[in-house]
Amino acid sequence: MLSIRALAAMALGVSMMFESWAFIVPHQNPADTLILVNKYNRAPAIPVELVKPNVAPTRESVADNIYMRPEAAKALEELFAGAAEDGMTLYATSGFRSYATQKAIFNRKLEYMSEEAANKISAKPGYSEHQTGLAMDVEGESTKHIGLEEEFGDSPEGIWLAAHCHEYGFIIRYPKGKTDITGYIYEPWHIRYVGKEAAQEITDLGVTFEEYIIKIRSDRIKWLDGSVSP
Ligand code: DAL
Ligand code: ZN
Repeated sequence: MLSIRALAAMALGVSMMFESWAFIVPHQNPADTLILVNKYNRAPAIPVELVKPNVAPTRESVADNIYMRPEAAKALEELFAGAAEDGMTLYATSGFRSYATQKAIFNRKLEYMSEEAANKISAKPGYSEHQTGLAMDVEGESTKHIGLEEEFGDSPEGIWLAAHCHEYGFIIRYPKGKTDITGYIYEPWHIRYVGKEAAQEITDLGVTFEEYIIKIRSDRIKWLDGSVSP
């Protein structure tokens, strides 16, 4: 196992080789908790096993929108319990989404903004991490009246979530100031389950999930001969 220091050195070494983050990772395993889904890497179209975590939904109308893959659901329950122990009340707003649901969400945005603007805040159908069952949009008691807004990041619950979610295997997937890499605006509410080891490394290194997969864990990627190389 490489140390974080060695991983960081590798990251620096490889980072100069990429001019753009528009890379396609070939041969991803749909069941992998480290699957990369973004604007260039589609969510798998195969059905995944989903369960409903035993956590409070933000409101009754979203109670059936919070399913996740079993390992992520269990970790979410532990995360919410850990928050409660520290006096923070978290709520779950949006977990697994089907292609059709993501399409409806994206199309609703197109009613009042351009496609380019919409795609900074919402993934196109087929390209949302929510389609993996590994992501959850989370709200907190103090800002749940305003919905999924950037203010959540400055609320006590949002600050707690950013500081502690890695202990439970989650990362803040779209950090502030990283739109050039992730493709999306800062979303302090969107957490992604990657497992405790990866979450710890990503947090220690202060990198995005894109940087982590391509620079730190490129050993996971079966590069296509000649067509793509790290
Ligand atoms: N808001 C995130 C990027 C999504 O639609 O999946
Ligand atoms: Zn989300």
